This record gives sequence, C-alpha cells and structure tokens, in this order.
Amino acid sequence: MKDIEKLFEKAKEGRSFAYTPYSHFKVGAAIQLKNGEYILGCNVENASYGLCNCAERTALFKMISEGYNKDDVEAMMIIGDTKDPISPCGACRQVMSELLSPNTPIVLANLKGDFKEFLNKDLLPYQFDDSDL
Ligand code: THU
Repeated sequence: MKDIEKLFEKAKEGRSFAYTPYSHFKVGAAIQLKNGEYILGCNVENASYGLCNCAERTALFKMISEGYNKDDVEAMMIIGDTKDPISPCGACRQVMSELLSPNTPIVLANLKGDFKEFLNKDLLPYQFDDSDL
C-alpha cells in the first residue's frame, strides 16, 4: 500500500539535496519499494545546461543501479515548490513509462501538501516503447 505521508517526507528529503545553482528550482522524488525501502532523487544541474538531470530520472536510475526493477515498486512521488502539484517533464514521463509499471501510482505534490495522483500509463499516452523497435 502506498504511504502518502512517508512519501511526502521522503520526497521533501530528496528535494533538500537538489543541486540547482542555475535554476534555483529544487525538485524531489521518492520511490516507495514493496520491501519498505525508499529511493530518493533530486535534480542535479550542470554549467552545461543540457546535462541537467531531473529528480525523477535520478531516482529511477538509482533504483535500477541498486538492482531493483518495476516489480519492486509500490508508488512514486514527485515534489516541487509549485502553486499546483508539480508536472513531470516529457523526458521523465518517457523514462517513467519504460522503468515503472503502467499501473504504478504516481503522486504529484507541492510543498503545501496538495496532491494529484495518476497511474503511470495516464501520464504518457501512446508512448514510444520496445514494441516500436
Ligand atoms: N526538473 C525536474 O527535476 N523535474 C521535472 O519534472 C521538471 C524540471 C528540474 C530540471 C531543472 O534542474 C529544473 O527543474 C528547472 O527546469
């Protein structure tokens, strides 16, 4: 079962590590695993702006590199200091569609504690995937 309160706490913790000397826009992500562990992510920027990595992809790449996969995931949360719950960028939606199951709950949040919940598959309709190759 997804744990919204813990996800909120962990996503904020992830956000606290954001490296954003250029945009000053900090984003956090937290992946709740079925084993009770959490994988955190933050955005990591670079003076070569095109190399900036979003919080969502940081968390997902950490998940894969730690030996987990989509079957291990209960839910994911993404958080930013936005008026409404943050909207993940298109590149991250593509990576989420590849690395998370279609029915994984994705909770979008802001610091005020407003939430919007989607299934992963609803964030990127008609996505490019391995069946296209
Ligand atoms: N950013 C994320 O981390 N996730 C998103 O879904 C949107 C954008 C980051 C990238 C960059 O470091 C900063 O926010 C401003 O675009």
